[in-house]
Amino acid sequence: MRIAGEKIAVLTCYDAAFARVLDDAGVDSLLVGDSLGMVLQGRATTLAVTMQEMVYHTGCVARGNRTAWIIADLPFGSYQESTEVAMRNATLLMQQGAHMVKIEGGGWTAPIVRFLVDRGVPVCAHLGFTPQSVHALGGYRVQGRDEAAARVLCRQAEELAAAGAELLVVEMVPAAVARDLTNSLSIPVIGIGAGVGCSGQVLVLHDMLGLTGGEPLRFVRNFMDGSTSIEHAVSQYVADVKGGRFPDDALHGF
Ligand code: KIV
Repeated sequence: MRIAGEKIAVLTCYDAAFARVLDDAGVDSLLVGDSLGMVLQGRATTLAVTMQEMVYHTGCVARGNRTAWIIADLPFGSYQESTEVAMRNATLLMQQGAHMVKIEGGGWTAPIVRFLVDRGVPVCAHLGFTPQSVHALGGYRVQGRDEAAARVLCRQAEELAAAGAELLVVEMVPAAVARDLTNSLSIPVIGIGAGVGCSGQVLVLHDMLGLTGGEPLRFVRNFMDGSTSIEHAVSQYVADVKGGRFPDDALHGF
């Protein structure tokens, strides 16, 4: 899709019912994100999500899905210890029907990416704001704002692509940085709060359906506004991502 110039529409998904709806609406990839700790479990962060929970939700999504590419998050603590532990936990997600696993973090994850890829596990890397490091990053902050930080981000992305990562999520980075990254890498870059210049977009399902309480995040659009149904809202998201109408950098960007 990247080579063909078609934008990639990704949404998080945690159960079979939504997997069916999202797949039917043309969502290209379903991310079983550890954001489920926040949107389903009501926690303040993703840190407490367990492997057992990720295994359960990945299986639910896989059973509702027909055609979409399923990415499952390796949660906090499930891959940091060693490449062997990462492989064991990635195996559990792949056995439930994941097509790819996602790992958060910079260059230190490159050996883990290489280890998994060499053993037949496709890996998505995740840079920029990485929610599992929320405390280390000092809160929910935009990353890569100054030139030095942007250079580090680009170097980390290159290292991860060289290690075999086949997809990269970049979260909460300035649109210009994400666009440069997308143009310089040979793998697709999926943005969230990273501007329209990425190869595709991802949003948390409950955010784009307006189900998350509190002040909406700047980079989110509520697709239920003006929609007659969930199916319609999701189809609109797919159409707007593919048509380059979401995000609108002036409204949703950093
Ligand atoms: O867990 C998640 O939903 C994610 C997205 C925010 C990219 O990692």
